[in-house]
Parts: sequence; C-alpha cells; structure tokens
Amino acid sequence: MKRVLFVCLGNICRSPAAEGVLRSVSRNRGLELYIESAGTGNWHVGDPPDARMIKSAARRGYDISHLRARQVELSDFYEFDYLLAMDLRNQTDLLAIAPPNHKCDIRLFLDFADTEIRETPDPYFGGPQGFENVLDLIEAGAKGLLDHIEDESP
Ligand code: 4NP
Repeated sequence: MKRVLFVCLGNICRSPAAEGVLRSVSRNRGLELYIESAGTGNWHVGDPPDARMIKSAARRGYDISHLRARQVELSDFYEFDYLLAMDLRNQTDLLAIAPPNHKCDIRLFLDFADTEIRETPDPYFGGPQGFENVLDLIEAGAKGLLDHIEDESP
C-alpha cells in the first residue's frame, strides 16, 4: 500500500483538505492508500482544520472535521512514499530538512494534476472563493495522483 503525506504551511487549510479529498476519492476507486497530512510550521499543532475549510469541504461531501494539525517529523521522510507539497515554499522547506538517505518522492502535488497551475495558493488570509479554488485544484490533483499510482502498480 502506498503512503502519501500532504504538506502545507499550517496543516489547517490545504493539506488537511487534500488528505480528506484523496481519502474519499481513493475509496471510491477501490484503491487502498495510507494518507496523512502535516505542516512545515508548528503554530497550529493540535488544532482542527480552519472552520472555513471544514465548511467548504463538507459542502462537497468531504468530512475533515476530525483531523488535527501536526508538524512534519524526520520519520516522515522514511515512512512515506510521497511527500506532496502544496506550494513551492513547502517543497523547498521539505528539501532543506530531508535526511540524505531518504527514499520518498518529494513533489509538488499539482505536478500530478492536468493543469498548468503548479502551486495550491494559501487561502488563509483571503476570502471564501479562495477555499473553493483550493478544493478545485485538490480534486484535479487527486485524480491525477490516483491515475499515476494505478499506472505505477497495476
Ligand atoms: P495552510 O494555511 O498552510 O494551507 O494550512 C495556513 C494556515 C495558517 C497560517 C498560514 C497558512 N498561519 O500563518 O497561521
């Protein structure tokens, strides 16, 4: 079973949403994955996802209310196959702390999406449309990632 860790800055908006969407979409496809999310920062450790993201995700059928934020740990680099960064800053931060002998694929999540957009923009300081945009991008990324994983291990 492939193991996927989504990584953003606070682990309360983008990466928990990606965790919830991928969990739901992979179940619908019958593909078993182990999925978590984490933040590069520690400000929100132990917090539930942002209320605006919980609400926007719920409207699309994804329940993320039970998730709690945690920070990326060194062991993540050994325990996951994919560390998927939501934006370039997250990816750069991961590469900066990655132990030299790690085996995981540290990629931008949207590299798997069928879209020109490579980064999932941080919706934290913006309006409600930002959360919808993030969910649109995450749904595209989740579809592309599942296609990729299915192709890789038929
Ligand atoms: P996230 O959004 O990285 O998608 O969880 C943010 C949440 C909180 C903060 C920044 C981004 N913050 O500065 O507290």
